[in-house]
Amino acid sequence: MKEVASLSREEAKAELARLAEVLHAAAKAYFQKDAPVRTDADYDSLKRRNVEIEELFPDLKRDDSPTDKVGAAPSEGFRKVRHSIPMLSLENAFDESDVMEFDRSVRNFLGMSGADPLAYTAEPKIDGLSLSLRYEAGKLVYAATRGDGTTGEDVTPNALTIKGIPECIKSAPELLEVRGEVYMSHEDFAALNARQAEQENKTFANPRNAAAGSLRQLDARITAKRPLMFFAYAWGSVSAALADTQEGAINRLKDIGFATNPLMALCSGTAELVAHYRRIEEKRATLDYDIDGVVYKVNDLGLQARLGSRSTAPRWAISHKFPAELAWTQLEAIDIQVGRTGALSPVARLQPVTVGGVVVSNATLHNEDYIAGRDASGNEIRDGKDIRAGDWVQIYRAGDVIPKVADVDLSKRPRDAKPYEFPEECPVCGSPAIREEGDAVRRCTGGQICRAQAVEKLKHFVSRGAFDIEGLGAKQVEDFHGRGWIAELADIFLLEERDRARERRLKDQEGWGDKSAEKLFLAIHERRRIDFHRFLFGLGIRHLGEAAAKDLARHFSDWPSLATAAIDAAKEAAMDDASQAALDGSPAWKEFLSIDGVGRTLVRSLVLTMDREAERDSIERLVKHLEIVPPDAQAFDSPVAGKAIVFTGTLNRMTRSEAKARAEALGARVSGSVSAKTDLVVAGPGAGSKVKKAAELGVETMDEDDWLALIGDA
Ligand code: IVH
Repeated sequence: MKEVASLSREEAKAELARLAEVLHAAAKAYFQKDAPVRTDADYDSLKRRNVEIEELFPDLKRDDSPTDKVGAAPSEGFRKVRHSIPMLSLENAFDESDVMEFDRSVRNFLGMSGADPLAYTAEPKIDGLSLSLRYEAGKLVYAATRGDGTTGEDVTPNALTIKGIPECIKSAPELLEVRGEVYMSHEDFAALNARQAEQENKTFANPRNAAAGSLRQLDARITAKRPLMFFAYAWGSVSAALADTQEGAINRLKDIGFATNPLMALCSGTAELVAHYRRIEEKRATLDYDIDGVVYKVNDLGLQARLGSRSTAPRWAISHKFPAELAWTQLEAIDIQVGRTGALSPVARLQPVTVGGVVVSNATLHNEDYIAGRDASGNEIRDGKDIRAGDWVQIYRAGDVIPKVADVDLSKRPRDAKPYEFPEECPVCGSPAIREEGDAVRRCTGGQICRAQAVEKLKHFVSRGAFDIEGLGAKQVEDFHGRGWIAELADIFLLEERDRARERRLKDQEGWGDKSAEKLFLAIHERRRIDFHRFLFGLGIRHLGEAAAKDLARHFSDWPSLATAAIDAAKEAAMDDASQAALDGSPAWKEFLSIDGVGRTLVRSLVLTMDREAERDSIERLVKHLEIVPPDAQAFDSPVAGKAIVFTGTLNRMTRSEAKARAEALGARVSGSVSAKTDLVVAGPGAGSKVKKAAELGVETMDEDDWLALIGDA
């Protein structure tokens, strides 16, 4: 195809006619017959070509231009793309001791001493949004946002408007996924906001929001008018290794044609890392883009591979954040929010103030002790100064964390300011709000009768990391709950059936129509099939975050096994008065605690939930509507996938942590004790009782070399 820029007027006219025909046919096949004749990327790129020609020759634009055609544009939202390798996030270090700890844990995992040489790269952490670019045979097949890390959105036409993202590349592996950050420069951000204000459009709070808003435009022509940039700093699937080291790989990406950050340095230890951090911190104010820390990565890619990842972040990298930003403003009021688990959280309503480029009007006050000037153990904080409505307070904001009220200026306290009285009743349902011993938080005892708890639980359930139901957001959940249509989680899946029996149906309500109602029911229906970890996370159990949900899902692989284990654990230890020693002695507890990333607090909360009949029944009512998909059942092509393995004795070729991580990466479950459920015991020198027990139970036992041969690492 001829380049758009070099088309003559006659050629452009003919090309627009051809594109109209091709695109209309493709759209028809796709939207009306549901039988696409072209790939989305192909379709999008032709559409883009059409737009470009129209921009060059506006008067040649056809009346039936595919650009204007409703239904032909992906107005239903973006196509979803499943990342071949998850797009992970990074753990944070906030000070030098966290950096030392990171280095120590890397060395421990690899069995290296503090004296062994170990190099890292250090580079700015760009404050934008990450993007994955997949090239096959040198051509961009799609650009996808991070999304939830597993599935992102296809924003190819938009990405192609970014200068640093080539459509075609040379001298690259056959398959190459380049990952990096999309951002907007300060200068372009200021110009965009000025333009927006002039046209009475909404302005953006910061360059990051502007970049995100611009990249996620359904109409790529809008993206094209917003100058975005891209730095490559990582990769996903590749058909051939880019290099042996992180530094080499980034240089290779640079050679291929991607912009890479010029401030990357190779450092030989933590002292050099911190020195480079300081250099970047000094330069920060002079850079034309936002950064919020420095990322350290183990340089040797062989070591990176051995270190692997936890459920949400790699073990071989960490982001060292810049210190928080501070600002003073006036506290207008203290409000109480009731969360999903009943926690009463005090929120500071502030006179809006800019903190590090972001306008802040709410901040957390943590809990009642914090407001009173005490920490969890009753010691004074802020020299014992309490916080009152009307006070001048200092706001503290570190990166993307929720801002908090850090200090108060007593010299400016209004004379009539009264000490804050923390409510002892739930402000939403009026039930007593109780503080249990050792808990810093006061909780509403209303359970599901408390509208706030019920609604928050439902909101959590439909949120992104959980069931992520399109068209059912916080607003709709509140509305449906208010109408009495959904009271508990299972009701969401009964919405359609009940709607049909109703006289005034959803489609008849304000803001809804035939199409939108049908679409919502379809979106709900699609989520009847749900990944196990999303289901677990969606339950909204206290302390059960996304990472732990993944760890639990991998270990138990289906809901009945997990539920049984939790119920067993509850039986083994009478929950109410169980001492920690009694709990730790119980086999079911031990099984939970053997899971990497799962701690006592979470297990206690999980077991407590399953011990309550009402909660258990409510979950079971939900489960009836679902098909829960075990984690990546087909993804592990390994002889140990799904097997329960115990390592015992000394391992010579790798540390215990590495062996465990490797086995888990191959889909195995690693446990600390041998039982009838154990499939294999890997025993090194010095192994004792566990090998004996395995023999008694007839469990297969092998040594480290045989194990390595079995998993193909020999
Ligand atoms: S490396 C597997 N390097 O930070 C690790 N990430 O908090 C891949 N980010 O999602 C990330 N600058 O969007 C890496 N130089 C940099 C980065 C960077 C910004 C973002 C990225 C990631 C997030 C994690």
